[in-house]
Amino acid sequence: MDQRPMTLIEHIEASERRFPEATGAFTVLMQAIGLACKIISREVNQAGLGKLLGLAGRRNVQGEQVARLDEFANDTLVRTLTRSGSVCALGSEELAVPIRLPPTPDTGHYAVVFDPLDGSSNIDVAVSVGTIFGVFRRRSPRNGLGGVEDLLQPGSSLCAAGYAVYGSSTVFVYSAGLGVHGFTLDPSLGELLLSHPDIRVPPSGSYYSCNSGNRKAWPDNVRRAVARFEDGSRSLRYVGSLVADAHRTMLCGGVFLYPADRGKPEGKLRLLYEAAPLAYLFEQAGGRASDGTMRIVDKVPRQLHDRTPLFLGSADDIAEFERLLGDEEARDDAS
Ligand code: AHG
Ligand code: MN
Ligand code: MN
Repeated sequence: MDQRPMTLIEHIEASERRFPEATGAFTVLMQAIGLACKIISREVNQAGLGKLLGLAGRRNVQGEQVARLDEFANDTLVRTLTRSGSVCALGSEELAVPIRLPPTPDTGHYAVVFDPLDGSSNIDVAVSVGTIFGVFRRRSPRNGLGGVEDLLQPGSSLCAAGYAVYGSSTVFVYSAGLGVHGFTLDPSLGELLLSHPDIRVPPSGSYYSCNSGNRKAWPDNVRRAVARFEDGSRSLRYVGSLVADAHRTMLCGGVFLYPADRGKPEGKLRLLYEAAPLAYLFEQAGGRASDGTMRIVDKVPRQLHDRTPLFLGSADDIAEFERLLGDEEARDDAS
Protein backbone atom coordinates (compact mmCIF):
# COMPACT_ATOMS: atom_id res chain seq x y z
CA MET A 1 0.00 0.00 0.00
CA ASP A 2 1.47 3.36 -1.06
CA GLN A 3 2.03 5.28 2.25
CA ARG A 4 3.37 8.34 0.44
CA PRO A 5 1.81 11.60 1.70
CA MET A 6 -0.61 13.40 -0.65
CA THR A 7 0.87 15.72 -3.24
CA LEU A 8 -0.32 19.33 -3.43
CA ILE A 9 -2.41 18.58 -6.52
CA GLU A 10 -3.94 15.42 -5.02
CA HIS A 11 -4.90 17.51 -1.97
CA ILE A 12 -6.47 20.27 -4.07
CA GLU A 13 -8.33 17.78 -6.29
CA ALA A 14 -9.69 15.98 -3.20
CA SER A 15 -10.97 19.34 -1.87
CA GLU A 16 -12.38 20.32 -5.27
CA ARG A 17 -14.38 17.05 -5.46
CA ARG A 18 -16.44 18.42 -2.55
CA PHE A 19 -17.85 21.05 -4.94
CA PRO A 20 -19.92 19.44 -7.77
CA GLU A 21 -19.94 22.72 -9.72
CA ALA A 22 -16.11 22.92 -9.71
CA THR A 23 -14.62 23.08 -13.24
CA GLY A 24 -11.05 22.14 -12.32
CA ALA A 25 -9.82 25.65 -13.19
CA PHE A 26 -8.67 26.24 -9.61
CA THR A 27 -6.60 23.06 -9.70
CA VAL A 28 -4.96 24.21 -12.95
CA LEU A 29 -4.21 27.58 -11.34
CA MET A 30 -2.68 26.05 -8.19
CA GLN A 31 -0.65 23.63 -10.32
CA ALA A 32 0.86 26.67 -12.09
CA ILE A 33 1.64 28.43 -8.80
CA GLY A 34 3.16 25.26 -7.33
CA LEU A 35 5.30 24.74 -10.45
CA ALA A 36 6.52 28.35 -10.35
CA CYS A 37 7.51 27.99 -6.69
CA LYS A 38 9.41 24.76 -7.44
CA ILE A 39 11.31 26.50 -10.24
CA ILE A 40 12.10 29.47 -8.00
CA SER A 41 13.17 27.11 -5.21
CA ARG A 42 15.63 25.40 -7.54
CA GLU A 43 17.22 28.73 -8.52
CA VAL A 44 17.26 30.07 -4.94
CA ASN A 45 19.06 26.94 -3.78
CA GLN A 46 21.81 27.30 -6.34
CA ALA A 47 21.77 31.08 -6.86
CA GLY A 48 25.41 31.27 -5.85
CA LEU A 49 26.35 28.93 -8.70
CA GLY A 50 24.40 30.65 -11.41
CA LYS A 51 24.18 34.25 -12.49
CA LEU A 52 21.32 35.05 -10.12
CA LEU A 53 23.01 36.70 -7.17
CA GLY A 54 23.29 40.43 -6.86
CA LEU A 55 21.36 43.32 -8.31
CA ALA A 56 19.67 43.63 -11.68
CA GLY A 57 20.77 47.26 -12.03
CA ARG A 58 17.30 48.83 -11.94
CA ARG A 59 14.79 50.07 -9.37
CA ASN A 60 11.16 48.89 -9.17
CA VAL A 61 8.06 51.04 -8.81
CA GLN A 62 8.73 51.14 -5.07
CA GLY A 63 12.14 52.73 -5.78
CA GLU A 64 13.85 49.63 -4.40
CA GLN A 65 16.90 48.02 -5.98
CA VAL A 66 15.71 44.92 -7.87
CA ALA A 67 17.71 41.73 -7.33
CA ARG A 68 18.30 39.35 -10.25
CA LEU A 69 16.33 36.73 -8.33
CA ASP A 70 13.40 39.17 -7.94
CA GLU A 71 13.27 39.45 -11.73
CA PHE A 72 13.69 35.72 -12.27
CA ALA A 73 10.92 34.88 -9.78
CA ASN A 74 8.60 37.50 -11.28
CA ASP A 75 9.19 36.27 -14.85
CA THR A 76 8.63 32.67 -13.74
CA LEU A 77 5.28 33.44 -12.10
CA VAL A 78 4.09 35.61 -15.00
CA ARG A 79 5.00 32.89 -17.53
CA THR A 80 3.42 29.93 -15.67
CA LEU A 81 0.27 31.84 -14.71
CA THR A 82 -0.21 33.20 -18.24
CA ARG A 83 0.26 29.73 -19.74
CA SER A 84 -2.29 28.27 -17.27
CA GLY A 85 -5.13 30.12 -19.05
CA SER A 86 -6.78 30.51 -15.64
CA VAL A 87 -6.06 34.19 -15.01
CA CYS A 88 -7.37 37.48 -16.38
CA ALA A 89 -5.08 39.85 -14.43
CA LEU A 90 -1.77 39.72 -12.55
CA GLY A 91 -0.47 42.20 -9.97
CA SER A 92 3.13 41.94 -8.77
CA GLU A 93 5.47 43.86 -6.49
CA GLU A 94 7.85 43.97 -9.46
CA LEU A 95 5.33 45.35 -11.98
CA ALA A 96 4.34 49.03 -11.92
CA VAL A 97 1.00 48.22 -13.57
CA PRO A 98 -1.07 45.01 -13.79
CA ILE A 99 -0.74 42.51 -16.61
CA ARG A 100 -4.17 42.26 -18.28
CA LEU A 101 -4.97 39.01 -20.10
CA PRO A 102 -7.64 38.16 -22.67
CA PRO A 103 -9.75 35.30 -21.26
CA THR A 104 -11.02 32.35 -23.27
CA PRO A 105 -14.79 31.77 -22.77
CA ASP A 106 -14.45 29.10 -20.08
CA THR A 107 -11.26 30.21 -18.31
CA GLY A 108 -9.62 33.36 -16.97
CA HIS A 109 -11.79 33.30 -13.85
CA TYR A 110 -9.01 34.36 -11.46
CA ALA A 111 -6.84 37.37 -10.69
CA VAL A 112 -3.55 36.72 -8.89
CA VAL A 113 -1.38 39.09 -6.82
CA PHE A 114 2.11 38.14 -5.71
CA ASP A 115 5.38 39.14 -4.13
CA PRO A 116 7.55 36.93 -6.31
CA LEU A 117 10.62 37.00 -4.08
CA ASP A 118 10.18 38.23 -0.50
CA GLY A 119 13.25 38.98 1.59
CA SER A 120 15.48 40.12 -1.28
CA SER A 121 18.02 41.65 1.09
CA ASN A 122 18.73 38.13 2.36
CA ILE A 123 19.35 36.41 -0.99
CA ASP A 124 23.10 36.98 -1.25
CA VAL A 125 23.72 35.76 2.32
CA ALA A 126 21.78 32.48 1.95
CA VAL A 127 19.09 33.38 4.49
CA SER A 128 15.53 32.10 3.94
CA VAL A 129 13.43 33.98 1.37
CA GLY A 130 10.00 33.26 -0.04
CA THR A 131 7.07 33.91 -2.40
CA ILE A 132 3.64 35.21 -1.34
CA PHE A 133 0.44 35.00 -3.43
CA GLY A 134 -3.26 35.77 -3.26
CA VAL A 135 -6.08 34.60 -5.58
CA PHE A 136 -9.27 36.57 -6.28
CA ARG A 137 -12.26 35.66 -8.44
CA ARG A 138 -12.50 38.09 -11.35
CA ARG A 139 -14.97 40.95 -11.02
CA SER A 140 -14.71 42.36 -14.55
CA PRO A 141 -17.01 41.12 -17.36
CA ARG A 142 -15.89 37.68 -18.56
CA ASN A 143 -15.75 38.65 -22.22
CA GLY A 144 -13.12 41.33 -21.82
CA LEU A 145 -9.61 41.87 -20.55
CA GLY A 146 -9.04 41.60 -16.83
CA GLY A 147 -7.85 44.70 -15.03
CA VAL A 148 -7.18 46.60 -11.87
CA GLU A 149 -10.75 46.15 -10.58
CA ASP A 150 -10.06 42.40 -10.44
CA LEU A 151 -7.00 43.04 -8.25
CA LEU A 152 -7.96 45.90 -5.88
CA GLN A 153 -10.01 43.65 -3.62
CA PRO A 154 -9.80 43.31 0.18
CA GLY A 155 -8.27 40.22 1.79
CA SER A 156 -11.79 39.15 2.84
CA SER A 157 -12.51 38.58 -0.90
CA LEU A 158 -9.57 36.22 -1.40
CA CYS A 159 -10.62 32.75 -2.53
CA ALA A 160 -7.15 31.39 -1.82
CA ALA A 161 -3.73 32.55 -0.63
CA GLY A 162 -0.41 31.03 0.25
CA TYR A 163 3.34 31.30 0.43
CA ALA A 164 6.46 29.30 -0.23
CA VAL A 165 9.41 29.60 2.13
CA TYR A 166 12.77 28.67 0.58
CA GLY A 167 14.70 27.75 3.71
CA SER A 168 16.38 24.65 5.15
CA SER A 169 13.59 22.97 3.18
CA THR A 170 11.06 24.39 0.75
CA VAL A 171 7.62 24.52 2.36
CA PHE A 172 4.49 25.56 0.44
CA VAL A 173 1.55 26.67 2.60
CA TYR A 174 -1.91 27.48 1.21
CA SER A 175 -5.56 27.83 2.10
CA ALA A 176 -8.63 27.91 -0.15
CA GLY A 177 -10.97 28.42 2.80
CA LEU A 178 -10.89 24.84 4.06
CA GLY A 179 -8.05 25.14 6.59
CA VAL A 180 -4.35 25.87 6.11
CA HIS A 181 -2.10 23.10 4.84
CA GLY A 182 1.69 22.82 4.36
CA PHE A 183 3.62 20.78 1.81
CA THR A 184 7.36 20.08 1.80
CA LEU A 185 9.27 19.75 -1.46
CA ASP A 186 10.85 16.34 -2.02
CA PRO A 187 13.59 17.32 -4.50
CA SER A 188 14.13 13.67 -5.51
CA LEU A 189 10.51 13.54 -6.71
CA GLY A 190 10.03 17.18 -7.59
CA GLU A 191 6.76 16.96 -5.67
CA LEU A 192 5.28 19.04 -2.85
CA LEU A 193 4.16 16.43 -0.28
CA LEU A 194 1.66 17.08 2.56
CA SER A 195 3.74 17.61 5.72
CA HIS A 196 1.68 20.06 7.81
CA PRO A 197 -2.05 19.16 7.53
CA ASP A 198 -4.54 21.62 9.05
CA ILE A 199 -2.10 24.10 10.61
CA ARG A 200 -3.46 26.00 13.65
CA VAL A 201 -1.67 29.05 15.05
CA PRO A 202 -1.10 28.49 18.82
CA PRO A 203 -3.29 30.97 20.74
CA SER A 204 -0.15 32.42 22.32
CA GLY A 205 3.58 32.03 21.79
CA SER A 206 6.94 32.91 23.31
CA TYR A 207 8.37 34.85 20.36
CA TYR A 208 7.97 38.43 19.27
CA SER A 209 9.41 39.58 15.94
CA CYS A 210 10.18 43.18 14.93
CA ASN A 211 13.01 45.36 13.64
CA SER A 212 14.01 47.01 16.91
CA GLY A 213 16.34 49.25 14.93
CA ASN A 214 13.26 51.31 14.09
CA ARG A 215 12.25 51.77 17.75
CA LYS A 216 13.08 55.46 17.97
CA ALA A 217 10.91 56.15 14.91
CA TRP A 218 7.85 54.24 16.14
CA PRO A 219 4.80 56.07 17.50
CA ASP A 220 4.85 56.32 21.32
CA ASN A 221 2.03 53.81 21.82
CA VAL A 222 3.83 51.22 19.66
CA ARG A 223 7.09 51.73 21.57
CA ARG A 224 5.23 51.31 24.88
CA ALA A 225 3.36 48.21 23.69
CA VAL A 226 6.55 46.53 22.40
CA ALA A 227 8.34 47.41 25.66
CA ARG A 228 5.60 45.49 27.52
CA PHE A 229 6.34 42.47 25.29
CA GLU A 230 10.02 42.79 26.26
CA ASP A 231 9.39 41.88 29.91
CA GLY A 232 11.60 38.80 29.67
CA SER A 233 8.76 36.35 29.04
CA ARG A 234 9.40 36.32 25.30
CA SER A 235 12.38 35.90 22.94
CA LEU A 236 13.06 38.12 19.96
CA ARG A 237 13.34 36.39 16.58
CA TYR A 238 13.72 38.53 13.43
CA VAL A 239 14.89 37.10 10.09
CA GLY A 240 14.11 40.15 7.97
CA SER A 241 12.23 38.01 5.42
CA LEU A 242 8.50 38.43 6.07
CA VAL A 243 7.68 34.90 4.85
CA ALA A 244 10.24 33.30 7.19
CA ASP A 245 9.09 35.36 10.19
CA ALA A 246 5.44 34.68 9.32
CA HIS A 247 5.98 30.92 8.86
CA ARG A 248 7.71 30.62 12.26
CA THR A 249 4.86 32.60 13.83
CA MET A 250 2.28 30.41 12.04
CA LEU A 251 3.82 27.21 13.46
CA CYS A 252 5.16 28.37 16.87
CA GLY A 253 2.86 31.28 17.74
CA GLY A 254 3.79 34.76 18.98
CA VAL A 255 3.65 38.06 17.10
CA PHE A 256 5.23 39.66 14.03
CA LEU A 257 5.17 43.45 14.11
CA TYR A 258 5.98 45.89 11.33
CA PRO A 259 4.56 49.23 12.54
CA ALA A 260 4.43 52.50 10.65
CA ASP A 261 7.14 54.92 11.70
CA ARG A 262 8.29 58.51 11.08
CA GLY A 263 10.05 57.54 7.87
CA LYS A 264 7.33 55.13 6.70
CA PRO A 265 4.00 56.71 7.78
CA GLU A 266 1.95 54.05 5.95
CA GLY A 267 4.25 51.23 7.06
CA LYS A 268 6.71 49.35 4.83
CA LEU A 269 4.87 46.17 3.90
CA ARG A 270 2.48 46.10 0.95
CA LEU A 271 -1.19 45.44 1.64
CA LEU A 272 -2.21 43.59 -1.53
CA TYR A 273 0.53 40.98 -1.96
CA GLU A 274 2.22 40.77 1.45
CA ALA A 275 -0.10 41.65 4.35
CA ALA A 276 -3.53 40.59 3.02
CA PRO A 277 -2.61 37.05 1.84
CA LEU A 278 -0.82 36.39 5.15
CA ALA A 279 -3.69 37.89 7.14
CA TYR A 280 -6.14 35.61 5.28
CA LEU A 281 -3.97 32.57 6.10
CA PHE A 282 -3.53 33.50 9.77
CA GLU A 283 -7.28 34.02 10.24
CA GLN A 284 -7.96 30.70 8.47
CA ALA A 285 -5.55 29.09 10.97
CA GLY A 286 -7.15 30.75 14.02
CA GLY A 287 -4.68 33.64 14.25
CA ARG A 288 -5.20 37.38 13.92
CA ALA A 289 -3.89 40.22 11.74
CA SER A 290 -4.47 43.95 12.08
CA ASP A 291 -2.92 47.29 11.29
CA GLY A 292 -3.42 48.33 14.91
CA THR A 293 -6.90 49.73 14.33
CA MET A 294 -8.69 47.30 11.96
CA ARG A 295 -8.44 43.78 10.51
CA ILE A 296 -6.04 43.66 7.58
CA VAL A 297 -8.55 41.61 5.54
CA ASP A 298 -11.08 44.47 5.77
CA LYS A 299 -8.71 47.02 4.19
CA VAL A 300 -9.63 47.83 0.56
CA PRO A 301 -6.49 48.72 -1.44
CA ARG A 302 -6.74 52.03 -3.33
CA GLN A 303 -3.58 51.40 -5.35
CA LEU A 304 -1.73 48.22 -6.31
CA HIS A 305 1.27 49.04 -4.11
CA ASP A 306 -0.47 50.51 -1.04
CA ARG A 307 1.46 49.93 2.19
CA THR A 308 0.14 49.09 5.66
CA PRO A 309 1.36 48.58 9.22
CA LEU A 310 1.14 44.86 10.03
CA PHE A 311 0.61 43.14 13.41
CA LEU A 312 0.27 39.40 12.74
CA GLY A 313 0.22 36.28 14.91
CA SER A 314 -1.44 34.39 17.76
CA ALA A 315 -4.99 35.52 18.48
CA ASP A 316 -4.43 36.12 22.22
CA ASP A 317 -1.07 37.85 21.74
CA ILE A 318 -2.30 40.20 18.99
CA ALA A 319 -5.38 41.02 21.06
CA GLU A 320 -3.06 41.83 23.99
CA PHE A 321 -0.84 43.96 21.74
CA GLU A 322 -3.84 45.89 20.39
CA ARG A 323 -5.02 46.48 23.99
CA LEU A 324 -1.57 47.80 24.91
CA LEU A 325 -1.59 50.09 21.86
CA GLY A 326 -4.67 51.78 23.31
CA ASP A 327 -3.39 51.74 26.92
CA GLU A 328 -2.41 55.38 27.51
CA GLU A 329 -1.40 54.62 31.10
CA ALA A 330 1.27 52.11 30.08
CA ARG A 331 4.65 53.42 31.28
CA ASP A 332 7.07 54.23 28.49
CA ASP A 333 10.13 52.55 30.01
CA ALA A 334 11.54 52.10 26.54
CA SER A 335 12.32 55.81 26.03
P1 AHG B 1 10.79 42.35 -0.30
O1 AHG B 1 12.12 41.67 -0.30
O2 AHG B 1 9.74 41.61 -1.05
O3 AHG B 1 10.91 43.81 -0.70
O4 AHG B 1 10.25 42.35 1.20
C1 AHG B 1 11.10 42.80 2.21
C2 AHG B 1 10.29 43.07 3.43
C3 AHG B 1 9.90 41.81 4.21
O5 AHG B 1 10.37 40.64 3.64
C4 AHG B 1 10.56 42.00 5.56
O6 AHG B 1 9.69 41.66 6.61
C5 AHG B 1 10.89 43.47 5.60
O7 AHG B 1 11.07 43.89 4.26
C6 AHG B 1 12.17 43.72 6.36
O8 AHG B 1 12.29 45.13 6.41
P2 AHG B 1 13.48 45.76 7.30
O9 AHG B 1 14.74 45.38 6.60
O10 AHG B 1 13.17 47.24 7.27
O11 AHG B 1 13.35 45.18 8.69
MN1 MN C 1 8.19 41.21 0.35
MN1 MN D 1 9.67 41.06 -3.05
